[in-house]
Order: sequence, then C-alpha cells, then structure tokens
Amino acid sequence: MNQYYYPKLQVVVLAAGQGKRMCSSTPKVLHEVLGKSMLSHVLGNIEALSPQGIALVTGHGGEQVYTAVEKTHHVSLVKQLEQLGTGHAVQQAEAVCKNAENVLIVCGDTPLLQVQTLFQLLTEHVHSQADISFLSAVIDEPAGYGRVYRNKQGTVERIVEERDASADEKQIQEVSSGIFCVNRERLFHYLRKIDNNNEQREYYLPDIVPLALAEGGRVEAVVMSEASDMLGVNDRSQLRHVSEILQRRVIDAWEKEGVSIEHPSTVRIDVSVKIGVDTTIRSGCQLLGNTQIGDGCELGPYAVIQDSWLDDKVNIFAFSHLDGAQVGAHAAIGPYARLRPQTELDEGVKIGNFVEVKKSVLGKNSKVNHLSYIGDTMMGEDCNIGAGTITCNYDGANKHKTVIGDHVFIGSDTKLIAPVTVESGATVGAGSVITKKVQENGLTLSVRPEQRYVRDWKRPEKI
Ligand code: UD1
Ligand code: CA
Repeated sequence: MNQYYYPKLQVVVLAAGQGKRMCSSTPKVLHEVLGKSMLSHVLGNIEALSPQGIALVTGHGGEQVYTAVEKTHHVSLVKQLEQLGTGHAVQQAEAVCKNAENVLIVCGDTPLLQVQTLFQLLTEHVHSQADISFLSAVIDEPAGYGRVYRNKQGTVERIVEERDASADEKQIQEVSSGIFCVNRERLFHYLRKIDNNNEQREYYLPDIVPLALAEGGRVEAVVMSEASDMLGVNDRSQLRHVSEILQRRVIDAWEKEGVSIEHPSTVRIDVSVKIGVDTTIRSGCQLLGNTQIGDGCELGPYAVIQDSWLDDKVNIFAFSHLDGAQVGAHAAIGPYARLRPQTELDEGVKIGNFVEVKKSVLGKNSKVNHLSYIGDTMMGEDCNIGAGTITCNYDGANKHKTVIGDHVFIGSDTKLIAPVTVESGATVGAGSVITKKVQENGLTLSVRPEQRYVRDWKRPEKI
C-alpha cells in the first residue's frame, strides 16, 4: 500500500462556475497555467491519492470541459444545471459518492495545490476522526476568500464569505481554501439543511461547518504548511500570479536537477518539459509543451522550443524557433533558424541563420548554413547546401518531394524544383535551376545567363 492510499475516498471537483471574472469565452478551469489547464493540474494531483473515483461537477461549458480532460484523466461527469452555489454543486454528486467513506472536495480553479498538501489534510482528517476537515491558511491579502471565524477559545465556529463579512470579520487573515474532507454520510446530511440566506443567494458549502457544530460534530481546520497552494484563480491577474509561482517552483526543481537557468524571471518552462543535466538555458527562452532536452545542451538566448526532442549536447543559438522537431546529438541550430513539424535532424547537423526546415529528414553532419528553405526533403549524410538554396516543393496545388543522397554539394542560390532527386556525390553549380534528376558524382549546372561588360557606362547621378 503506498502512503497516499486512502480507502473509500471519493473526490468531487467543482468546476461548474462560469468564471465571470475571467471575461472569457473559455470556461475558467480550462485556462492554462504553464501549458496545462488549471483543471488538469488539479486532477493530476488528486490522482496521486488513488481515490476510488473522481466526480467532476460541470455546468457552464460542461461538454467542453469534459472533452478537454477525458482523454488524460478518468473522471465521472456530474452536471449542475443551475449554478446555485458550492454546496448545491456538491449535492449533485451524492449518487456517485454512495460507496465512499470520506469525500474530498476540491475546486477546479486552484492549480497550485500539491499532493503533499492534500495528504496533510487527509492524514489529519483520519487521525482526528473529525466529521469535517478543511484546509485553511493565514495570508497577507485575504480579500476575496472566506474567512475562518474562531471563538475566543480559538475553536472554529464558521466560515464567512467576503460578501457577507462585517468590517471586523474582513480583518481576519485566516482564510478557507475551499478544500474539504468530510465524512460522506454526514456531508449529505448537512447539505440537506443549508439554505441560501446570504448576500449571493447561493447554497454555500462552508455553511456545513456551523451545522455540524450545532449537532455536536467535530470540525478541524488544518492550517496549510504551504499557503500558496490554496491560491484560487478568479481573474486574469490571479492567473498570472499563480503562473509566476508555479514557474518559480518548476525552475527551482530543475536547478536542483542540475540545469542552469540565466535570468529565470524571463524564462518560461512548461510543466511537462523534461531537461537533462548540465544544460544551460539562457535569457528569454520558452520551453513549451512536450519538449524534451538532453544533457549538456545550450539554449538561447531567446529560443522558443515547442513539442520538440533534443538529444545531448545540442546548441540552439539565439532567436531560433523549433516546433515539433527532433534534433540529434551535437547539432547546432541558428541563430535565427526555424524548424517546423516533422523535421528530423541526425547527429551533428548544422542549420544556420535564416534557414527554414519543414517535414524533412537530414542525415548525419549535413549542413544548411544560410538563408535556405528545405521542405518535404530526404537528405543523406555529409551534404553541404549552399546559401539561398530553395526546395521548390509546392506547385500551387500539391506538395512534392526532394530526395538528396550522401556527400552532395549544392551551390548557392540553387532552386530544386520538386519532385526531384539528387544522387550521392553530386555537385550542383551555383545559381542552377534543377528540374530533372541530378546524376551521381559529376557536376550538374543549368545554363547560366550570358555576362556582358560595358566599359564606358556611367552611374546615374542624383539630380
Ligand atoms: C470559494 C469559497 C470560499 C473560499 C474560496 C477559495 C464558497 C461559497 N466559497 O469562494 O470560502 O475561500 O472558494 O478559493 O464555497 N462552483 C460550482 N458551482 C457553483 C458555484 C461554484 O461548481 O454553483 C465551483 C466553481 O467553478 C469553482 C469553485 O466552485 O471552481 C469555487 O467557486 P468560486 O465562485 O470560485 O468561489 P469563491 O468566491 O472563490
Ligand atoms: Ca474561486
């Protein structure tokens, strides 16, 4: 049994709110934090607890929310047709919870929540045998959160929502995270008794606290050891704030794994990115999506690398953009290079400035060093492609392939009109327009325009 295993635990994730304060056509919980939706962050951490089930309560944009997560997370969908409050939302999940002993309730808009923090709540809940346990935190800026109201003895009496709080209550700095663990039978018993007698006319989940106490139930506020875990996102400024905190965590973790990061405040590294030891990431880099970087690479400054795979000791020079590319060991890319999807570069390949490569395979040690476009191309090993070479792959309707063998030398400013093949060992003279197969080894060049000399010609002068 792993330490995060709790028998008969059902999780309910609340994600039905419209998220009005985001001012967005995208449901709030689908907004991304470092390449992953807030909801997916929350679900990923819950899954580490191995609960018996996860119910996702949706309302606004419910289908969109469910389709966004169903492929990567196993959740059962619960609908809340009208958003009548967090208590009402939990009530909709009663049927799915029926075999559980405890129900863990988490909001879909708290992406910083870590599994250790949930572990802290569950452990204390089991240990104290409370009917209701919830995570609270003492924070400097409690505005917007429900305040934890304690009596003179320090015992929790109730949670007061910001909009219902008196001026005195607003001074309280201990806030509720909105994350509860409640005995299943008690939970639905209390929920049947809550009302919407408050400023928002909503059925508040936190109102189960005074109801439990009135019936002699036991309520525990578990003060979080890491307060930032509970930060909720209601608007875009909070979204940015939690992204910054999570970015800090990600960068700290990579530094501990042997990665050097210059000016970390300018760098973005998505949560799903993997980086090898002794890699250096310079200012302004963005490592996005499912990118994997090998050992001893040098990236940037200002490189954008999305969904790409880099082997060891790759150099990506300044201002290069990689998307869906695979790059072999010791390759050097840029500055100012662009690698587009389905580009596969073997070991030691060199791609220089202002070169674009798309859907092409380049063999070991081949070089395309300046101002070229290589698309839909299969290229062998040790080729040297001169400046300004273009594979003309598109006839306006269809894409065509260029095949280049090993040890080929293409002179500068050559146009390879696809479909076309250049056999191994061939040399193509500069400025050629190649429309037919280039045979192996010899020199091929297209007829060049005549060159004239006009001795007495005068440059025009400005009038
Ligand atoms: C809520 C808590 C507050 C706590 C804060 C922590 C209540 C009444 N308030 O406030 O005590 O300090 O979270 O972040 O519980 N939702 C539904 N259905 C609804 C209403 C909301 O599913 O009818 C979902 C939302 O999508 C969201 C979560 O519940 O994921 C919380 O709702 P939100 O409106 O963000 O509550 P807060 O005002 O942040
Ligand atoms: Ca919230």
